[in-house]
Amino acid sequence: MANIQKVETMQASSAVFFIFGATGDLARRKLFPAIYSLYREGKLSDHFAVIGLARRQRTREEFREDVLSSIKEFCRYKPGDGKQEEWDEFARHFEYKSLDIHQVDGFRELNAFTEEVEHEFSIPGNRLFYLALAPELFGNVSSHLKEGGLLESAGWHRLIIEKPFGYDLGSAEQLNEQIREVFREEEIYRIDHYLGKEMVQNIEVIRFGNAFFEPLWNNKHISNIQITLGETVGVEERGGYYDQAGALRDMGQNHMLQMLTMIAMEPPSRLVPEDIRDEKVKVLRSLRPFVSSEDVSANVVRGQYTEGDVKGVHLPGYRQEDKVDPGSNTETYFAARVFVDNFRWAGVPFYIRTGKRLPVKTTEVVVEFKSMPNNVYLGQKYKLEPNLLVIRVNPMEGIYIKINAKKPGTDSEIEPLAMDFCQSCMIGINSPEAYERLIHDAAEGDSTYFTRWDEVATAWSFVDRIAAVWQEQPESLSYYPAGSWGPSAADNLLEQDGHHWWPVNGQDEDNVIWIKNNEG
Ligand code: BG6
Repeated sequence: MANIQKVETMQASSAVFFIFGATGDLARRKLFPAIYSLYREGKLSDHFAVIGLARRQRTREEFREDVLSSIKEFCRYKPGDGKQEEWDEFARHFEYKSLDIHQVDGFRELNAFTEEVEHEFSIPGNRLFYLALAPELFGNVSSHLKEGGLLESAGWHRLIIEKPFGYDLGSAEQLNEQIREVFREEEIYRIDHYLGKEMVQNIEVIRFGNAFFEPLWNNKHISNIQITLGETVGVEERGGYYDQAGALRDMGQNHMLQMLTMIAMEPPSRLVPEDIRDEKVKVLRSLRPFVSSEDVSANVVRGQYTEGDVKGVHLPGYRQEDKVDPGSNTETYFAARVFVDNFRWAGVPFYIRTGKRLPVKTTEVVVEFKSMPNNVYLGQKYKLEPNLLVIRVNPMEGIYIKINAKKPGTDSEIEPLAMDFCQSCMIGINSPEAYERLIHDAAEGDSTYFTRWDEVATAWSFVDRIAAVWQEQPESLSYYPAGSWGPSAADNLLEQDGHHWWPVNGQDEDNVIWIKNNEG
């Protein structure tokens, strides 16, 4: 197998990967490229097969062409020119079956076909079912997998499902019950792709692996924490879905709260999935609930983008987007001040915000430390900036630390200095995509970076209270022009506490001396 870097210890178990929704966008943009990257890095067993499933008729050859074009367009590895042999070796593991998921007969045929494929590639009956489908189909597909005999093979059976996992706690419970009729909790891998991001996983290491962070990681030393998930795009082609969901359900219930748990959790007693997830659930349970509508109004801001100009391009407002109700009250932005009421975090505000059509695409966490007492020593003479630890998750990956230092050549003039470690700028670093990590982990049976049912349920209870108040108060929606940082009320949230949002990636402060690892 030419050009394949073999990492035996990292190889995912030998399995058949079933991709339901194989002609869809997720498969094309993320799943096929992820499988190819795993293959190129030698992280897939030689004994694997992929069976693409969708209603549409495709021949095996057409499907393999689709896979090739998706990889050429979206994968960080390109099928090498002139290495037809290598491509053929990979592509021969791909099969396609047209399937009507409402008919159990098709599943029986699929089972017989799978046995042939398993025989051909010497796969011991391990089956990973990836449902890249609308959630309302999860229950149906699960029960047909069972009735069709697909769960009777000798190996393990695992189900990967995509978000949204329900619309609120009630619908999530229903969905969960349907799936649990067929699969055990430990067989269910609920994707939150933010948990597959390299720098989100790095949060644990930065926190628990460094003597100069962990002792300071509490309310005695940290003033506030800011988490920003900013997007420049609008709702693109997903207006129909998004108009029902809104930013709180689309990003808040899952990605945002998951990031918050990674920042706030206690060190787990053992580095095993259940212990780590136990600690995350404890954070979610410690979130101070919003009990009254006044609580919500005082701590949560919701906005919707209107038309605006960005770099000379005129962008439509949300209500003008395709498949969006022209009178829609759905939020495309929200910001909140939340508290984690436990010993470590009592009194520390977590400011979180996310929005579409913001000026910068960025996912970033800013940990602002408490300032030095300003009545002694240097503080009497100079205005000292607080120390910051900034974790850049996406699209730039890295961390920087902002400290105060003496300006060279002066008596004791002080200036802020940022030590910037840019991981994504380093030559030779080609960080894996979130889906690579997650597919690999699921095949290995490692559920650390998937969400357990109690996490999902607790996150919904928190979010549902906010959504309920918004529903009663449509006038709570404010507006912001596309390309701006959201409603000014989000700035007021911090100003009330004497804080402000720190500039994010792309708007680096110019009064700071930057020391970058990617220069010189
Ligand atoms: C998805 C949301 O879960 O995450 C999208 O449904 C959003 O609305 C996307 O655009 C953002 O992901 P990323 O990885 O580009 O930050």
